[in-house]
This record gives sequence, structure tokens and C-alpha cells, in this order.
Amino acid sequence: MSEKKDQKVCIIGMGYVGLPLAAVCAKNGYEVTGFDTDQSKLDIIAQGKSPFYEKFLDDLLPNVKINVTSDPKGIQGNDIYIICVPTPVDGKHNPDLKYVISASQAVANNMSRGALVILESTVNPGVSEEVVAPIFEKAGFVVGKDVFISHCPERVDPGNEKWNVTNLPRVVGSFDEIGLKRTVEFYKNITSGEIAEMDNIREAEATKILENSFRDINIAFVNEMAMSFARIDIDITNVIRGASSKFSFMPHWPGCGVGGHCIPVDPYYMIEKGKENNFEHKFLSAARKINDGMADYTVEMLQDKLNEVSMPVKGTNVGVLGISYKANIGDLRESPALRIIDKIKKMDANLITFDPYVPSLSSEKSLDEIMSKSEALVVVTNHDEFKNIPVSDFVKHGIKVIIDGRNCLDKKAIRAAGIVYAGIGR
Ligand SMILES: NC(=O)c1ccc[n+]([C@@H]2O[C@H](COP(=O)([O-])OP(=O)(O)OC[C@H]3O[C@@H](n4cnc5c(N)ncnc54)[C@H](O)[C@@H]3O)[C@@H](O)[C@H]2O)c1
Repeated sequence: MSEKKDQKVCIIGMGYVGLPLAAVCAKNGYEVTGFDTDQSKLDIIAQGKSPFYEKFLDDLLPNVKINVTSDPKGIQGNDIYIICVPTPVDGKHNPDLKYVISASQAVANNMSRGALVILESTVNPGVSEEVVAPIFEKAGFVVGKDVFISHCPERVDPGNEKWNVTNLPRVVGSFDEIGLKRTVEFYKNITSGEIAEMDNIREAEATKILENSFRDINIAFVNEMAMSFARIDIDITNVIRGASSKFSFMPHWPGCGVGGHCIPVDPYYMIEKGKENNFEHKFLSAARKINDGMADYTVEMLQDKLNEVSMPVKGTNVGVLGISYKANIGDLRESPALRIIDKIKKMDANLITFDPYVPSLSSEKSLDEIMSKSEALVVVTNHDEFKNIPVSDFVKHGIKVIIDGRNCLDKKAIRAAGIVYAGIGR
């Protein structure tokens, strides 16, 4: 069977990954069903809207048809099932596969023979073989005969206006040649990006772990250099600019913490897989420790810089600018802001917050309001609104100290205006 567009596609999990995929499949002529356990999300999608802000979806959703259901029986009769459910870690950083397991069970209990099942959720090498396939075998299907299982890790980057599900290159691994061929044909129908075929499903799983661990390690490396350079008064942003003139250098930028559902999470999947095989991932563990420590480092800087102007943290009006984990979106998952806010609160500062993308957690309604009430500011997210604040506004509002957790402000101009400024390694 070739993956013609007259096939029916069912997406399991209608979040940041599943919803754009569903919309693009529908745009390309597939009949699409979106299945999610969260009925409130489905109610919004049924109105042609997105439960989260994504410009690309705002344009697309009103023009495509996605059937939605929270009833597992409602997913019967599809040809292709694509699993896009969360893969978090628990409080001890152990991989939590309960969503992958329940989603696989829902598909196995409702699909017909011959279906293609694609796992897009990020997992460590071995999950498709050791966790997913046995669920289908237990339901009476023979993999490679009654069901075809593939892995195609998602690379979508919420808020990225250049790269999205329509043009991202993809990596595909499967259990068998038929599964691989069907999966590649399907993705060719929805993305203009190149599709790399892996020799087996484990290699596809490992690809995603390698990509995200690469980012975590490189960010940890610049964070470590930033903290060290800060002690000898070297601005790391200038150093990175200098190093970038070398042909082989790949710039990564330091900051007050790594957030999102991927980079601070995925390396733990490999760390734990390594342990199963008596292998210690020293590099991955060190990177996680450094990046997890950046929120504390940022708060320590606030304390130091307030000391410099003889102000205690206790009782000082501290404004936190930005709560989401990255610029121009409202995603809070693993956001370092949550830890920074918690720490500042525990130090008895008068904490106020503002994030235009997260009104529910903002104590203030506007940038002007938070600026007018703050004595010190901590920039946690480099939203465009914050990067463009004129230095004269900091002066007008009597801001004494600025901690720039994203190195996005004009250090020289702020210092020239008599305000104490510290960035991360700057
Ligand atoms: N968000 C990203 O930027 C991104 C990028 C690349 C890869 N990923 C990976 O993609 C996967 C999904 O991430 P996401 O950001 O879309 O998560 P999300 O939390 O935004 O969405 C997941 C959805 O799955 C639903 N769900 C949970 N269990 C279910 C079940 N058994 N049946 C049906 N629905 C179920 C949830 O209600 C939720 O709506 C994760 O493995 C993640 O690591 C995410």
C-alpha cells in the first residue's frame, strides 16, 4: 500500500507537535482525526483555533478540517496513526513513558490490520522495540505483517518562523523495509525537507537524543566559560563574536537557564539508558548540572549587584521580565523563570512579574507598570518587547540594578546611564 493522500491519518496528542502536524496533513488533502485526552484542548481546536500561540497555526487552522475526539473508539478506521504525546522525566529525572504506553495501547486496541504507526515523541534508543512494539504484539498484531511501526522524531521549534513542519528535514527509522518505505512516502507528501532513512529504528531514536544533547552540552560549555570569564571581567558575547570568525566555530550563547520540553529533558533519557547498560554518561550529566544551576547563578548575581548599591534583596522591589522559556512564545515548560521567581520570593523581595505571553502568571499588566514599580529588574526571557526598551525608560523609572539573563540589552549604554548592569558572562 502506498501512502496516498486519500488515506486517513490520526494524530494522537494535539499539542505543540501534534496540532501543527494535523493541520499540515489536512492542508495536504488527508482526512485527519486528532485524538487527545484533554477535551478542553479539543474544544478550542474544533473552533478552528489553537490552544497555544503559533503564528503559522493562526493562518492555517481556520482553513483546514480536523475531526477531534477524546474517545479512543473514535480513532478506529485510520490508515496511519502518529503518536505525539509528552515524554517528560519524573522528579528524579527518570524517563516517564506512561503517555507513550497509554497512546500505544489506545491505537493497538482500535486499529485495523495493516495500519502504519509512527512515533514522533522523543524517546531513547530502544523504546520502540522494548516498549511500543510489545504493546501491539500483545494486542495480537505481528509487527511487519499486521502493523508497521516507525519512528520519525519531531524537530519542530515553536515560534520559529523559518522552520516548521512543512519544511523541516526528517529522519526515519522502521522495523522493516515496508514500514520504512510507507513512512518516507508519507513525509514526502507533507514536508519539502529532505528525509534521511536510517538503517533501523534505534538509529532514528538516537538521532534526536544526539541533536538535543549536542545543544545542551554546547550551551553548558558557554555557560561555564561565561561564569569563569565574568570573574576576570571578560565579556563572553564579544569573545563568541571573535571566535565566530574561525571557520569551524559554532556559536552557542550563555543564559540564565535552558527550558522547554526537549533540551533539559531528553539527555536524561540517554543518561538512564546508559545506566541500564552500565555506562556512565559523564558529559551529559555535567551539562545538565551546569545548565540547571544557571537560575541559581542569576539570583546570586542579583544579590551581589544589589549589595554593590547597598540594597538588600529583602524588601526590594524586584521585577522579573519574562516567564516563558524562550522569546516570543508563552510556553512555560521547564522555564528557568519559575525557579528564579521562586528563589527571589524566598529571599523576601517584593517580587513582581510581567510576561506579555503569560498574562496568567504576570502580576503586572504592562511593561510600563512593572518598570514603574521596580527598583531592580531581572530579564529572564528575551521577548522583542524587552530587547527594545530605551535606556531612558530605565532611568525615568529609577531602576538601580539590571540583571540581563539573556544578554539582550545594551550593556554600555545602561552602565553609562549610571545603572548597575550584569549579564551572564558580561
Ligand atoms: N514542543 C516542542 O518543541 C517539541 C519539539 C520536538 C519534539 N517534541 C517532542 O514531541 C512530543 C510531544 O511534545 P509536545 O510539546 O507536543 O507536548 P504537548 O504537551 O504540547 O502535547 C501533548 C498532548 O498529548 C496529549 N496526551 C497525553 N497522553 C495522551 C494519550 N494517551 N492519548 C492522547 N493524547 C494524549 C496531551 O493532553 C497533550 O495535549 C514529546 O516527546 C516532545 O519531547 C516536542
